[in-house]
Amino acid sequence: MKKRLGPSDRLYPMPCPLICGGTVEVADALTAAWVGICAAKPPQIAVALRKSRRTLELIRESGTFTVNTPRAADAVYADYFGTVSGREHDKFAESGWTLEPSLLVEAPRIAECPYQLECRVVHELDLGEHVLLVGEVVESHADPAVLDATGEKVDVELLDPLVYIAGSREYRRLGEKIADAYVIGHTIGENK
Ligand SMILES: Cc1cc2nc3c(=O)[nH]c(=O)nc-3n(C[C@H](O)[C@H](O)[C@H](O)COP(=O)(O)O)c2cc1C
Repeated sequence: MKKRLGPSDRLYPMPCPLICGGTVEVADALTAAWVGICAAKPPQIAVALRKSRRTLELIRESGTFTVNTPRAADAVYADYFGTVSGREHDKFAESGWTLEPSLLVEAPRIAECPYQLECRVVHELDLGEHVLLVGEVVESHADPAVLDATGEKVDVELLDPLVYIAGSREYRRLGEKIADAYVIGHTIGENK
């Protein structure tokens, strides 16, 4: 029998991209684990932010944000952006990480993150302590170094994204490939 653990805000694992708002001149970014793609046509992403976040204020000013995936090797930066506030710190000046302009939205991208999404806020839902921002993903960018042989798709091994484990509060990287999705399931019942 499973042990009951009560209401929980934990899923294992979680992504932990950096969400960036503002402009190239005045930007702030935070690390967010409560993030997920939630629609396809047009593509949309949901990001839950505590109302007190400085980054949220900047996102609201332009109605845009970017989602920037850090490499596993850059855990120190993700942790820094997720543990100090732009209210007291200029995170970019202190970390040495840099901004690059987006193509379609005002919020800039974080140059050191190899995969980036440009988003325009289309919904904001009040959840009490948090707000859920739903952003339409209007453009995406990948460093050529993380693309597969076709040059069109991200190779997740090359991307080597940072992953967050809630509860134990650990950063990890992905393990090995298990199977092809939308394929292996069809082997069930094949021999019946
Ligand atoms: C691994 C990790 C995940 C986090 N996930 C979220 C999140 O999903 N939503 C949120 O509002 N804050 C989250 N935080 C906290 C913010 O990143 C943190 O409070 C940040 O310092 C806020 O910065 P700002 O005030 O400059 O916007 C997370 C922090 C860490 C370290």
